[in-house]
Amino acid sequence: MEKNGWCHSFAPQFNKIILSEFNTRTGTDLSDAARWLRAGECVAIPTETVYGLAANALDPAAVVKIFEIKNRPAFDPLIVHVPDAEAIERYAMDISPLLRELARRFWPGPLTLLLPKRDVIPDLVTSGLPRVGLRAPAHPLTQALLRQLPFPLAAPSANPFGYISPTTARHVYDQLQGKIPYILDGGDCRIGLESTIVGFEDGQVTVYRLGGLALEEIERVAGPVRVTLNQSSNPAAPGMLKSHYAPRKLLILGDIDKNLSLFSHKKTGILAFRQKRSLPAGAVEIVLSEKGDLAEAAQRLFAALRKLDESEVEVILAEPVPDAGLGRAVNDRLKRAAAPLE
Ligand code: TXA
Ligand code: MG
Repeated sequence: MEKNGWCHSFAPQFNKIILSEFNTRTGTDLSDAARWLRAGECVAIPTETVYGLAANALDPAAVVKIFEIKNRPAFDPLIVHVPDAEAIERYAMDISPLLRELARRFWPGPLTLLLPKRDVIPDLVTSGLPRVGLRAPAHPLTQALLRQLPFPLAAPSANPFGYISPTTARHVYDQLQGKIPYILDGGDCRIGLESTIVGFEDGQVTVYRLGGLALEEIERVAGPVRVTLNQSSNPAAPGMLKSHYAPRKLLILGDIDKNLSLFSHKKTGILAFRQKRSLPAGAVEIVLSEKGDLAEAAQRLFAALRKLDESEVEVILAEPVPDAGLGRAVNDRLKRAAAPLE
């Protein structure tokens, strides 16, 4: 990732803004959502990946509220959501033909492209980095919303920084209630994992975050890609922080049966891929996909993690899923959920 973004020590400090309190409403009214967004407020929006916390991407005074509400550090850039590939030229330039082809094939969909930004995108949105992340989301409600607004929407996942991304309107409400005026309810997210993030660096298509669009799909169009998943605390890309997407409870990733005997003195929550077990009394189990379908496992992962995190269990025992297709992104999220905070 670019080295010249803002990081901890020299990130601009916002004048602490006083956030308004709202009586948060959840509904499917596009004109309500649009009215709040035009007024410079934040609204939660459904996408096919996860729910986003959206604001007018061209208005720094609106964007700064996203950072405040999420408690998100200023060095973590935001993805800008557009209706379709036609919008690329308005916000980005020098677009590599391979990335353009990826947009043509996979937008609207779970793919974010990092492209050299135009000046119209405020530096606050990209944390001072030279590229902007653009994505056209596929959810019909948010598609309709984007088409009726005169500006694109900056939107990170609608969770407090570092926690599990929301895949239902209820997840958003539970954490952001009172902080935003409106949650546009689009039901359960169809894919359930954040978008795959792709850019063009050193003459190569490069994947920075595994996500809802499988690597194999990208390679079918763009040829072999380089994968650069940051495993360390790279401040330029917190979505790739070693510990992220994490429940509050201890999560142990590995062989569940082995770990069950190690943790027999604790109340355990099991997050299994497909196998049901006979469990010790008091243990809770969630099976992600009994038929062993990786897309189903991906779709259910975050809701399952939340459920176990909110339950009585003291420790969550999870196992990796097969490392292919969407399974790679599931394993990536499980690893980050298991990593201790540094
Ligand atoms: O599916 C998704 O991508 C969801 C939905 C709402 O669209 N959004 C999402 O946003 O997951 P967020 O902010 O939680 O994660 C996006 C990650 C950031 O953590 C950052 O690392 C990276 O994308 N990113 C965004 N803009 C970037 C930029 N200009 N340069 C480098 N990395 C960027
Ligand atoms: Mg996020």
